[in-house]
Amino acid sequence: MLRVGVLVSGGGTNLQAVLDAIDAGTVENARVEVVISNNAKAYALERARKHGVAAECVCPKDFENRAQFEKELLRRVDAYGLDLIVLAGFLVKIPAAMIEKYRNRIINIHPSLIPSFCGVGYYGLKVHEAALARGVKITGATVHFVDEGMDSGPILLQKAVEVKAGDTPEILQRRVMEEAEWKLLPQAIHMIANPQRAACVQAFGAER
Ligand code: GRF
Repeated sequence: MLRVGVLVSGGGTNLQAVLDAIDAGTVENARVEVVISNNAKAYALERARKHGVAAECVCPKDFENRAQFEKELLRRVDAYGLDLIVLAGFLVKIPAAMIEKYRNRIINIHPSLIPSFCGVGYYGLKVHEAALARGVKITGATVHFVDEGMDSGPILLQKAVEVKAGDTPEILQRRVMEEAEWKLLPQAIHMIANPQRAACVQAFGAER
């Protein structure tokens, strides 16, 4: 059973998609052990509690300096003996010590087709504003492993989403979530939790 921790800062719709997919059995051999937020008001924490999942908050302003915050964040993550850390809208730069310790065991979901509209400053609605400003006709979402850079780690999964005439950033954000993010993140966790079967799908095109 893959022990998963989900790090969040906001509403937690991606977290919800993961919890629902585990309940529905579309994600197998994985369990969310803890949800950790840097923001006590994040609705994602409420979603975790409602689901009977441990919900914890580690808030930077409760610490004297960044180093102490990062140390505590790593301590909390370590406490759950996690196999996989999922960043689902976590707006905190991951401490170098955590990346080092959990190399290839941290994934992030980003609401564009990397390498477009990613890196420093591209988060939330800004990603979709930039896509609309550039006039792209296709956008999407990406799940990638986390390395020391910003949105620069190896890509695991991507899914394209059409941009439509009249889209606002909010409309586009919602479509990218519905058509890509909420499917892609559970799928990535399932792949990591079931590596032999993922390889089988790649080889034969169907799960057996
Ligand atoms: C999502 O768009 C995700 O791609 C990005 O942050 C947003 C989080 O949304 N990294 P939610 O909290 O899962 O609703």
